[in-house]
Amino acid sequence: MRVLSVFGTRPEAIKMAPVVKALIASEGIEPFTCVTGQHRTMLDQVLGLFNITPYYDLDVMQANQTLNGLTARVISRLDPILDELKPDYVLVHGDTTTAMAACVAALHRNVRVGHVEAGLRTYNLQKPWPEEMNRRIIDVGAAKLFAPTRSSADNLRSERIEGEIIVTGNTVIDALKETVERIRTDAVLSGQLQESFSFIKPDQRVLLVTGHRRESFGDGFLNICRALAELSTRRDLQIVYPVHLNPNVQGPVKELLSNHENIHLIEPQEYLSFVYLMDRADIILTDSGGVQEEAPSFGKPVLVMRDVTERPEAIAAGVVRLVGTDVARIVHETSTLLDDEVLYASFARAVNPYGDGLAARRIADSLLGKPVTPFVS
Ligand code: UD1
Ligand code: UDP
Repeated sequence: MRVLSVFGTRPEAIKMAPVVKALIASEGIEPFTCVTGQHRTMLDQVLGLFNITPYYDLDVMQANQTLNGLTARVISRLDPILDELKPDYVLVHGDTTTAMAACVAALHRNVRVGHVEAGLRTYNLQKPWPEEMNRRIIDVGAAKLFAPTRSSADNLRSERIEGEIIVTGNTVIDALKETVERIRTDAVLSGQLQESFSFIKPDQRVLLVTGHRRESFGDGFLNICRALAELSTRRDLQIVYPVHLNPNVQGPVKELLSNHENIHLIEPQEYLSFVYLMDRADIILTDSGGVQEEAPSFGKPVLVMRDVTERPEAIAAGVVRLVGTDVARIVHETSTLLDDEVLYASFARAVNPYGDGLAARRIADSLLGKPVTPFVS
């Protein structure tokens, strides 16, 4: 069975790395990888770390790319590959333009699609935009839907989706477990990581920040920056912020936050370093999907700078809270969590509602038609 995995952004690469590895290890599968290069630098950081050499590279990224330009480049450059390789399955991940465009290209060639991380929903096409649209398009067309959790599978069932639904857990937990293990078992590596973050002071608490959502561009990002500037006046706090390379993020963040003593603006981090930073953090303030899934397994409180989320499990577990992009609310919620020990303790509990580290194995087995025991959180 020929399986072509297509991915292109940082989070897809992190979450598909365990799948690529499981496909390689599966007798009966001939695996191929195609990266679109939707993210050039941030993708290559992950490929290097997980030792993935892509078979095909569409190299589509342009500075400040448009969604339509990107979609057109992915479809037109993937089409001849589909024609030549004639895969039995194309695997895509999540809700990016890469995933949606690769799915459409595969369906136009009558190739079956497997959707890794299927069934996430907010049921609001604007939040997140355009991801909510992308994942719904993929789920309509996919033959196999690898839903990470029971609630994502329930969404698909309620929509009477045609394909087969398998609850696998999220592959990000596979990637995280492997990475944490690498850091914990390699004293030289953990020493190097500690050394590279020697600017982090041991006597101040750490607020780790990431942000990139398109629906927050403009006022949302200005508000996030104002809130961080206000929080940085606290003497007991240091803010560590790896800034996403999107110019709509770089612009306001560099302009408003460059000259604050307690704010460390750093480059997007390699996954190993970012995992180390999550482990060092006291609180994580983010709008990232992947970070919402990973941080709970470290027992780190997460405040999500969005109004809605497609990942309700950690909110239900009481370890993640939505705080929107209002300045006063971000400052208030972060300060309360820092100052209220009882509240902090209730958030700082390690839970794993998103996976058990075996998702990639379940996906490979399902493609081979083997029986799969679903993930239960
Ligand atoms: C994309 C995904 C989003 C995902 C996010 C993860 C879409 C529509 N958006 O958003 O779902 O959550 O990735 O980070 O698929 N850039 C670089 N170098 C890089 C990466 C980006 O310079 O390595 C710059 C380029 O100018 C590029 C711009 O960022 O044009 C935007 O990249 P794009 O992938 O279109 O959007 P993201 O905001 O990164
Ligand atoms: N991440 C990383 N380096 C960073 C910031 C994040 O490796 O500097 C990882 C993070 O651990 C998670 C993924 O990137 O696995 C999330 O990516 P992002 O927030 O860009 O996208 P999203 O998950 O929101 O689609």
